[in-house]
Amino acid sequence: MKQRIITTDLMEEELETEGSLRPQYLEDYIGQQKVKENLKIFIEAAKQRGDVLDHVLFYGPPGLGKTTLAGIIANEMGTHMKVTSGPAIEKPGEMAAILNNLQEGDILFIDEIHRFSKSQQDSLLHAVETGTVTLSNSSSVLNLRNNPWTGRILTTLQNGTNVTILGTEGRWYKIQWGSTVGYVHSDYIKI
Ligand SMILES: Nc1ncnc2c1ncn2[C@@H]1O[C@H](COP(=O)(O)OP(=O)(O)OP(=O)(O)O)[C@@H](O)[C@H]1O
Ligand SMILES: [Mg+2]
Repeated sequence: MKQRIITTDLMEEELETEGSLRPQYLEDYIGQQKVKENLKIFIEAAKQRGDVLDHVLFYGPPGLGKTTLAGIIANEMGTHMKVTSGPAIEKPGEMAAILNNLQEGDILFIDEIHRFSKSQQDSLLHAVETGTVTLSNSSSVLNLRNNPWTGRILTTLQNGTNVTILGTEGRWYKIQWGSTVGYVHSDYIKI
C-alpha cells in the first residue's frame, strides 16, 4: 500500500495559493486595532529609515492571524517572504543554507518556532542578534548592514567592497571604504 505523507508544515507555495484568501494589507485585517497600530508605526519608521523591520515574534492561540500578519508585513514592506517552519529544519546546516539564500531585505518567516531545538535556536542567534547574514568571504571584503544593537556600523557594503582596516578598539575594527569610516565587530572580519 502506498504511504501517504502528511504534514502540517506551511510551505511557501501553499502560502502563495492561500495568499489570495488572506488579508493582504493592514487595512484589510479585521480587529486587533492595537496590534495593527503598533505594526503600522513600526513599518513606517523602518521605511522612513530605509531599513528593514526589526525581528518580530507573534504568539497567540491558533487561528488568531499570526501567519496572516507575517504576510501582511512582507506586503507592506514591499519585500519577499521566505517561509519555513521549526519542524521542517532538521539538520544543523539547513538553517545556514536558508539564511545564506536570503536577499537583502527579505523576510524569513519561521512558523512553529517554539518547536526549535536548542541547536536550531543557536544556528539562528547570530543572524538575529546582528541582522547580518553574509560574512566576510575573503580578507577585508565584507557584506554588512546596520547592526540594530549598537548602531555602530554605518552603512551597507556590497560583497566585494574593499575596506581598509584602520585599527581596533576592543572587539571593534575601525574601517574605511571610500571616504566613509565605520566600525565592524571582529566577528565579521577574517584576516
Ligand atoms: N484579523 C483578521 N482579519 C481577517 N482575517 C483573519 C484575521 N485573523 C485571521 N484571519 C483569517 O483566519 C485564518 C487563520 O489565520 P492564520 O492562519 O493567520 O492564523 P495563525 O495565528 O497563524 O494560526 P495557527 O496558529 O493555526 O498557525 C486565515 O484564513 C486568515 O486569513
Ligand atoms: Mg500560522
